[in-house]
Order: sequence, then C-alpha cells, then structure tokens
Amino acid sequence: MNIAMIGTGYVGLISGLCFAEFGFNVTCIDKDKNRLNALKNGKMPIFEPGLEDLFNKHFFTTKKIKLSNQMSPAISNAKVVFITVGTPTRRINEDADLSAVYDVAKEVAKNITNYCVIVTKSTVPVGTSRKIKNIMTRYIKGTNFDVASNPEFLREGSAINDFMRPDRIIIGTDTKKSEKILKSVYRPLYLTETPIISTNIETAELIKYASNSFLATKIAFINEVSNLCEKVGANIQDVSKAMGLDKRIGAKFLHAGPGFGGSCFPKDIKAFSVTAKKHKTKLSIVDAVNLSNKNRPIEIAKKIIKYFPKKSKINIALLGLSFKPNTDDIRDSTSIIIGNKLIEAGFKICAYDPKSMENAKLKCKNFSFANNVNDACANMDAVIIGTEWNEFRALDLSKLKRLVKKPVIFDLRNIYNPDDVKRIGWEYVSIGR
Ligand SMILES: NC(=O)c1ccc[n+]([C@@H]2O[C@H](COP(=O)([O-])OP(=O)(O)OC[C@H]3O[C@@H](n4cnc5c(N)ncnc54)[C@H](O)[C@@H]3O)[C@@H](O)[C@H]2O)c1
Repeated sequence: MNIAMIGTGYVGLISGLCFAEFGFNVTCIDKDKNRLNALKNGKMPIFEPGLEDLFNKHFFTTKKIKLSNQMSPAISNAKVVFITVGTPTRRINEDADLSAVYDVAKEVAKNITNYCVIVTKSTVPVGTSRKIKNIMTRYIKGTNFDVASNPEFLREGSAINDFMRPDRIIIGTDTKKSEKILKSVYRPLYLTETPIISTNIETAELIKYASNSFLATKIAFINEVSNLCEKVGANIQDVSKAMGLDKRIGAKFLHAGPGFGGSCFPKDIKAFSVTAKKHKTKLSIVDAVNLSNKNRPIEIAKKIIKYFPKKSKINIALLGLSFKPNTDDIRDSTSIIIGNKLIEAGFKICAYDPKSMENAKLKCKNFSFANNVNDACANMDAVIIGTEWNEFRALDLSKLKRLVKKPVIFDLRNIYNPDDVKRIGWEYVSIGR
C-alpha cells in the first residue's frame, strides 16, 4: 500500500517513517523546499531521539520513504493520504487556524485520480473533516473518496516510541470501506494488541481535544496547589506522589512547574474552548486552565524579580529553552516567556540549551547565548533551570558555585533536593517546596 503524508514536520515526518517501518511505501510531501533539501542531504529539520537513524534507514537504504514538494504523482498513487500540516492558534480569536488544512484539501482534490481515504492526523476542531469533505467534493472530478479522522498522540521527545507503542489508536470514519483501510494501516499495532477505537468522525476529532485538555488540567491544577503549598509550608512533591499513588488519579502530569508550553496543549485548549462557544456551550474548566497557565510563567517571573531588591545589572543564566527535554521545539516555551519578562524588568539573560539553540537564536534576539552550562553560569547573579534536560540533573554544583557571582538557583522543575543544594552553599528556590 502507498501512503502520502502532507506536511513533513514533527508529526508528518515521524509518522511517515514509522509507517515505512511497518512496511508501507510513504511519500512525505511538504511545501518547504529547504526542509526537504536538507533532509535529502541527511540533515534532520528537528531534533528527535532516533529520528536520524530511522530516516537514514528508510530514505537511503530501504528507500521506502520518498520526499516531494509536489502532490503529483504521490496522491494519485496513494490509498491513504494523511494531512499532517500545522494548525496554530489564530491571533484574532484563539481558534485553530485551519487555512493550511483546507489548502491541502483543495490540492489533494485536484490531484486524486483513484479512490483514496483522506485522513486528518493534524489536530483539528470537531467538524473540520466534514468541511474537508465538502471542499473536496467541490474540487474533485468524479473520483470516489472518503474522509476520516485519526488524531495523533505522539509526544515530542519520545515520538517514535509513542507512535510504535501507542496507548490507543483512534479511527473515525463514516464508511466500512475507509474503516477497513485505516485498520489495515495499523495492522502491525493491532497484532500487538494496541486498543483500536473505531468511532464516527466527530467523536475521533473530539477525543483528541478532550484528552489534551484533561492532561493540561492536571498540570494547571497541581501548579495552583503548589502555590498553596508555598503559603502553608507543605511539600508539593509529596502531595503529587501521594495523589499519584491513587490509581483513580495516576501519577502522570502531576509535576508542578512553570506551566505547560509547546505546540499542542496551549493551542488545543484555546481551540477547544472556541469550538464549545461556537456550539453555544461552555468549557469553563478548560477556560480556567487556559487563564491559569497563561499567568503561570508571568507569576514565576515576578517571583524571580522580587527576589532581587536591586533590579538593574542582574545577570541570569537560563538553562533550558525548549518547552520540554529531548526536543528542540521552543514553541510557547515557558523558559522563553520567563526570560523575556526578566529582560523587560531590566535583567540580562545568558541562555544555554543542549538542542534548541539554533531555534532560540532566531527568536530570542535579546538573549545572549553560551555554548555550555559553565559558560552560561560564569559570573551570574543567579541560575534558572527552566527545562529538565538530563544534562542539568547532575550538575557539579560545588564547581558551579565557584563560577557564579552569587550562588542562587531557581529550580523551576524541582530536579534537585533542597537540602543537598543548600548544604553546598546555594540559595535554592524551587516550586511548592
Ligand atoms: N508536534 C507534536 O508533538 C504533535 C503531536 C500530536 C499532534 N500534533 C498536531 O499535528 C499537526 C502538525 O503538527 P507539527 O508539530 O508536526 O507541525 P510542524 O509545524 O512541525 O509541521 C507542519 C509542516 O507542514 C508543512 N506545511 C504547511 N502547509 C503546507 C501545505 N499547504 N502543503 C504542504 N506542507 C505544508 C510545513 O512546511 C511544516 O513542515 C498539528 O495540528 C498539531 O497540533 C502535533
């Protein structure tokens, strides 16, 4: 079976490669020629563990992956066409911007010559796949097709493993034929007993938003509880651990920190809320989570600013810029939001991140950058740990203390034991402890 992925970003490239690993022939299409040319030369456009090896295997050796900036002939040869383009937040109303999805639908319609299933893997509000069907019907020249929804749940940083060993696969279809085809695409996972939920298209679209919003709610909730812990002398890590041991609650997504960032949760909760409003209902919990998380990095920045009675000439080392470890994605990164707030208050930031420096240099024009932890921290008035990269988990704090001007750490990810750090002579500020 031939598969086409339209959009060769985090989701399109990883999913395409994993489908190639399943044995399918996949064409990854993208309008960004630079991205495709870099890939053809073996340069990965994103950092993701295992990506380069999988790409080299299927592009250079098995040749199961092809790259193209043209829809033709990949679309006419494909049985399944996945749409994996971005759906960022629209500035005007916080809805998902679906222009790339609809552009792709038009182009696909113009290029179809045989029956195929057009599948939205991008995260799209409920009702989008129906609109795709309408658009395609307008442009298509007599060929039969189906639309389907197959939301993606992979996480950056563990994307390949998540795709190959998912918790579940969601297939939303409205014909038996398209359901059967999509199930055959996931047959290798079916054999490993991955739960496959077959449902209608609207339900599939909604499951993705409901899932992301629920996880975001857990994070916002524990962050607010950590504020209370700070006021009353309780320890958020013990609270999280004890809560997480309750199987009805679960331990995941209960770590207090600077708020959630990244390319998914912030935009998805906003779009989910807009969808509800369009349908004259309310998601007031999701709205509260959105507000709480928007304020979170601002409140953390205020706390750091307040720590320094004299605001000028404060130099801060900012360790970690990606929105989470093991990715170079800095979209909606809370480290960067906090860094910018500190700069607004007159501080100077010297940043270091193991993988996202290239992206950050393009976006954070007011930051200076260092090539490693020691250089970032030399002569600084404080160190902020913004992202919990493994590299920051076992720093030689005795050595680092000799490099900094003042030994102050703001550990926004609670990766150190307060007593250990204080014993070495650091002033240590963490979250909710
Ligand atoms: N990144 C994640 O971890 C993740 C996880 C699950 C779901 N999603 C969802 O998947 C979708 C894609 O996310 P992403 O992070 O992979 O985005 P991305 O920005 O990394 O990639 C999108 C790609 O689409 C390409 N593109 C845009 N318009 C195009 C067009 N008209 N024709 C061809 N290519 C086009 C872009 O050049 C880019 O390479 C989003 O809806 C996102 O919410 C993302």
